[in-house]
Amino acid sequence: MKIFVTRKIPDIGISMLKAKGYEVDVSPKDGPLTKSELLTALKAKSYDAVISLLSDPIDAEVLAAAPTVKIFANYAVGFNNVDLKAAAVKKVFITNTPGTSDESVAEHAVALMLAIAHRIVEDDDFVRDGKYTGWDPNLLTGFNLRGLTLGLIGAGHIGEHVATICKNGFGMNVVYYDIKPNEKIEQELAAKFAPTVEEALKVADVVSLHVPLLPTTQHLLNAAHFAMMKKTAILINTSRGPVVDEQALLEALRNGTIRAAGIDVYEKEPQITKGLVDLPNVVLTPHTASSTQEARDGMSKTAAENIIAALEGQTPPNLAKF
Ligand code: DGY
Repeated sequence: MKIFVTRKIPDIGISMLKAKGYEVDVSPKDGPLTKSELLTALKAKSYDAVISLLSDPIDAEVLAAAPTVKIFANYAVGFNNVDLKAAAVKKVFITNTPGTSDESVAEHAVALMLAIAHRIVEDDDFVRDGKYTGWDPNLLTGFNLRGLTLGLIGAGHIGEHVATICKNGFGMNVVYYDIKPNEKIEQELAAKFAPTVEEALKVADVVSLHVPLLPTTQHLLNAAHFAMMKKTAILINTSRGPVVDEQALLEALRNGTIRAAGIDVYEKEPQITKGLVDLPNVVLTPHTASSTQEARDGMSKTAAENIIAALEGQTPPNLAKF
């Protein structure tokens, strides 16, 4: 069996595939493959399986270039880079890595909240710039998270973790919107269900997004939504960039419609809407919410497990589905 891995990933999954006697080719390029590099690489050998990344567009053209591939194991929880319909037509398995990055992404979302509330990035800049000349009672005053209301948009596993940390760590109240109620967080965290996104937005001090990117979640937050949020509210996005109208967010932050934002994902990654990086009231991270060693190892292992199952004639455990 021959496996192609589109970019270097942690060794754990690669070793599992090699231990099965599979031949594993990892792209030697230190960077994402362009579409034409991906097509060329896939045509080089009769591969049986591929580990693909979010940056690889797995569409009809790519599937056609890899007629012997039985499975594209996406090295991510999200799989918005894959044309699931085209894969279904070709009867190719598409899998993802659910559960591997829940803690990492949740901790990162909370880190962004804390960075904003405690002005950590500004504090750090201040010290590095040599401006710290002595204790000052008026210096870089932030705010506490304790007692504030968290508005979760999306209460799947990652959202649940965020709610748990915020409730148990900071005594925050939890309001959540999801397409269906989540009894676990209602019982364990006294979370309150909001029947619409808007109702959650209106009462939240901290809005944290945890939805997949779907046609129905594209621009889930737009200018009208920012206008209905509290002026003091902060937005955290560790889900997918296009869930937020980034130009509208820029204007809302610039005009003080909302207080601040902590953003890990961008509408047209890796491009960032012009002006966003110049604002003092944003903390920006480069899509690294799932970048802990634990999460990355889990993603590598899960991708390999899916491939092994598919190549041994079983249904892989993590078929991508909505
Ligand atoms: C995911 O798993 O979908 C992340 O966004 C990529 O690390």
